[in-house]
Amino acid sequence: MSPRISTRCAEALAAAALAGCAGPQSALDAGGEAAGRIAGLAWGMFVGAALILGVVIGLLAWAVWAPDSSRRWLAGDRAIVAGGLVLPVVVLTVLLVAALTVTDGRASGEAAGLRIRVEGEQWWWRVTYLDPDGRPLFATANEIRIPAGRAVDLELHAADVIHSFWVPALAGKLDMIPGHVNVLRLQADRVGRWRGQCAEYCGGAHAWMAFVVVAEPGEVFEAWVAGQRAPAPPPADPFLARGRELFLAFGCPACHTVRGTGAMGVIGPDLTHVGGRLTIGAGMLPNHVGTLAAWIVDAPHLKPGNRMPGFPVFTGEDLRALAAWLESLK
Ligand code: CUA
Repeated sequence: MSPRISTRCAEALAAAALAGCAGPQSALDAGGEAAGRIAGLAWGMFVGAALILGVVIGLLAWAVWAPDSSRRWLAGDRAIVAGGLVLPVVVLTVLLVAALTVTDGRASGEAAGLRIRVEGEQWWWRVTYLDPDGRPLFATANEIRIPAGRAVDLELHAADVIHSFWVPALAGKLDMIPGHVNVLRLQADRVGRWRGQCAEYCGGAHAWMAFVVVAEPGEVFEAWVAGQRAPAPPPADPFLARGRELFLAFGCPACHTVRGTGAMGVIGPDLTHVGGRLTIGAGMLPNHVGTLAAWIVDAPHLKPGNRMPGFPVFTGEDLRALAAWLESLK
């Protein structure tokens, strides 16, 4: 291989390896202070492990190639006690203490100004914004909007089995355990979008249990809250009105709430403002009329095991009207 080609190869490999350090779900690309501390610990461990590896390789080379007289001490009791006992105990103790303190993201001290209840369900996230007294203000799903630069307390619940809440770029992960509430403090230091993922195997579609955290400037967030608290907007034209009629006539309200229409089901996600969300199916698909229509017709095929039945009864204009009405619920 010519030097030029090998340089290119090395560059390509380095770029590929470093690409793993960035992105919306990278613990090494921190968007908040808690994740920054964890990233620092990870880099510390990486550098420390590299140093130890270097020393071990050096000692190995010494043991193999050095003259007898100068390597004899390697076989002595002292070297074995120092390198095989004292060093590992010291290193592992330091790491244990660092890991327990650095990765603990549970809220402590005074409560944050904003409290959100996040409930893990097979396989999606029910997100309920609470008032200062802990009463629900409105509900959404699979998307957590927060004001940038402000701490938020997330009450983590599980509705069925154990799930685990993890937004690697913003905080450490914390389990969601049935019958127990964990409170995670989350803060995004800048405006941005990050991906979160259930981090505890919870059944067939566990890998499809994702969500998005969106951090916005304070005033944008407040406007969003005001919009979410309002009921669904009335249909703007007869086509959308037909979509709403179909939604109400074909049993959708048995599982879904759309405030302002009389639909009050609580099994599935609240759809009052579903059109304003970035994804559907818990981070599976981008949210637009086409994916909504596909989901309505055959959700069990798109996400096997999920509780939404398929509705092949909707076709043509009816399906378009229903999907368009849902998409209009901003
Ligand atoms: Cu929920 Cu894995």
